[in-house]
Amino acid sequence: MKNIVILISGGGSNMAALVRAAEREQWGKRYGARVAAVMSNKAEAKGLEFARSQGIATAVLDHKAYASRDAFDAALADRISAYDLPGAPALVVLAGFMRILTPAFVERFAGRLTNIHPSLLPAFTGLHTHQRAIEAGCKFAGATVHLVTAELDHGPILEQAVVPVLADDTADTLAARVLTQEHLIYARAIARLLQSAVGAHP
Ligand code: GAR
Repeated sequence: MKNIVILISGGGSNMAALVRAAEREQWGKRYGARVAAVMSNKAEAKGLEFARSQGIATAVLDHKAYASRDAFDAALADRISAYDLPGAPALVVLAGFMRILTPAFVERFAGRLTNIHPSLLPAFTGLHTHQRAIEAGCKFAGATVHLVTAELDHGPILEQAVVPVLADDTADTLAARVLTQEHLIYARAIARLLQSAVGAHP
């Protein structure tokens, strides 16, 4: 079984969309894959409740309990790796996981570590993407699913979605429009990765 581990920090709507897509599209039957665990660096992350309600294993690793970024990332990587036999999950999916990851962490899961970012990368890496797109006068905004590399919000692009920026948009209204598309492209990107990886991680 190919185990997918999803990392969240908050609401977890992308994670929930992935869990629903896995069910609806029968990722177990088609790709031998399942969402094995949802992990968070925040105990209060709302998405954890949804994961538990779906019978998915959850874990919390509070980054504040670790002396350094390196120590937290090493513990997180070990905990993630514990979800599979032997050694490694098929995919580690960042879904609103609001932490900058160390090169060592990225290297450990290279090629099977994905992220979704609420902008049309390479534009607007980092935070406050929607406000920045509005202030820049962008007519279009969107979201990007990409493989994670050591550089923040960079890496090979797997999927993108474009939405219009409307004249009366606020960061919140634009974020809501983008988020609807995020749910579609993340599920599509992961399904494609699973499809191409069938047999690659026996
Ligand atoms: C999403 O919009 C995601 O793209 C963004 O956080 C939100 C999480 O929402 N991620 C980043 O900004 C990462 N740099 P969710 O918890 O409801 O999925």
